[in-house]
Amino acid sequence: MQKITVIGTGYVGLIAGLGFAKWGNEVVCLDVIPEKIEKLQRGVCPIYEPGAETQLSDGLRSGRLRFTCDVKEAVEHGDLIFIAVGTPEAPDGSADLKYVYSAVDEIADYMQGYKLVVDKSTVPVGTARALKQRMSARLKSLNKDIPFDVASNPEFLREGRAVGDFGNPDRIVLGVFTQQAEQHLRELYKVFARSNKPVVVTTPETAEMIKYASNAFLATKITFINEIANLCEQVGANALEVAAAMGKDGRISPKFLHPGPGYGGSCFPKDTKALADTGTKYGAPLTVVESVIRANQHQKELAAKKITDRFPAGGTIALLGLSFKPETDDIRESPAVEIARTLLAGGRYTLRMYDPKAMDNARQALKGLSGAVWCGSAQETMTGADAVVIATEWTEFSALDFAELKAALRQPVLFDLRNVYRKADAEAAGLEYHGTGVAPTQRSAGA
Ligand code: UGA
Repeated sequence: MQKITVIGTGYVGLIAGLGFAKWGNEVVCLDVIPEKIEKLQRGVCPIYEPGAETQLSDGLRSGRLRFTCDVKEAVEHGDLIFIAVGTPEAPDGSADLKYVYSAVDEIADYMQGYKLVVDKSTVPVGTARALKQRMSARLKSLNKDIPFDVASNPEFLREGRAVGDFGNPDRIVLGVFTQQAEQHLRELYKVFARSNKPVVVTTPETAEMIKYASNAFLATKITFINEIANLCEQVGANALEVAAAMGKDGRISPKFLHPGPGYGGSCFPKDTKALADTGTKYGAPLTVVESVIRANQHQKELAAKKITDRFPAGGTIALLGLSFKPETDDIRESPAVEIARTLLAGGRYTLRMYDPKAMDNARQALKGLSGAVWCGSAQETMTGADAVVIATEWTEFSALDFAELKAALRQPVLFDLRNVYRKADAEAAGLEYHGTGVAPTQRSAGA
């Protein structure tokens, strides 16, 4: 059992805090937003994340999990202090580290004994070393002669599957300066010893780079198949069959090879830009990543263009799904929201919209744009629309009844941007089917 403090209760911080408590540690989670802390203290999860609320109530009941806004209390509690605050995108594309810096400043101000400060936020290479120097200088200025360590422990969990991913990681990466830090972290993660999870122990610089390289690689893989899909549409090939056959090659693997309207979320867009920015700063440009960033933006625009090209005069469009992916209410950089914004901006379209969890967030994001109609179900959304667009592959959109869909729509047009359905089935039911990388039959080459 260890005493752990987690600073920041976003996706990474909250899920890590819940997980650490589940493993038997005594955990205090700190956040600056009082309403969030108050909710968490009552067992209410501020984000929609499957499994999180159960772990939250288990943790609170066990007495091993506490939430506070009190910095002093939080810093005094943990021997290990995890930093899991946001690293938003600065206007120039670099990662803004102001929250990370203020976290280490607070630790230095309140610490009375040894602390291992572990960074879990995604931060540019060199940050752990900079944090170490910053803490040293601050402690010195406060006349405090207290030993401490800094380490990097990047997190690889996905939103929507965060609880499962945290409890079942592919690898644990520990970037350490000292053996003492390694021992503390190995002790914490010994829960994975029985399942033989690989523990990579390396320098903080390498650990920080592993995180960015992993995210940038996945973003590149998605973008690659998206561009192949765009070409498939032009030449009359089927991108799903291409991806499936490519994925059979063990060196490629079928994962993250699903074409769609572009990647979104709080990580890939921000992290690719921050990595490209680091490359530029160090004179080692990441030209592949730079084009991925551009291609992904283009992919989102292309998705909207498919709809406007098919309905140039405007009309009523049903948009199903607004979150950046299923099982989350997060709409940050969501392709669905960008499509909505584009369609609404021109003033020619009425947009009927529905998402199982992200309605409040989307309503907020699209506030002030006229033409938006908020619906309570997929069926209601489609009623009277000229076409339906599946922008996010929530499970409830994967079993739509084609006959009902045809009856509800004024024109039987389906834009299946996530390839939830098979073109042959949709066309057999009399729908005009537009997938991503799967063009309608009449537009395929030679047809
Ligand atoms: C991503 C990484 O997958 C996690 O490993 C990482 O920890 C996290 O970023 C982070 O850095 O915090 P996340 O953004 O939650 O996780 O979601 P993903 O499942 O990776 O999906 C990202 C985007 O890519 C979504 O918009 C999704 O729809 C899209 N995507 C994913 C595709 O378009 N095609 C695919 O084949 C896979």
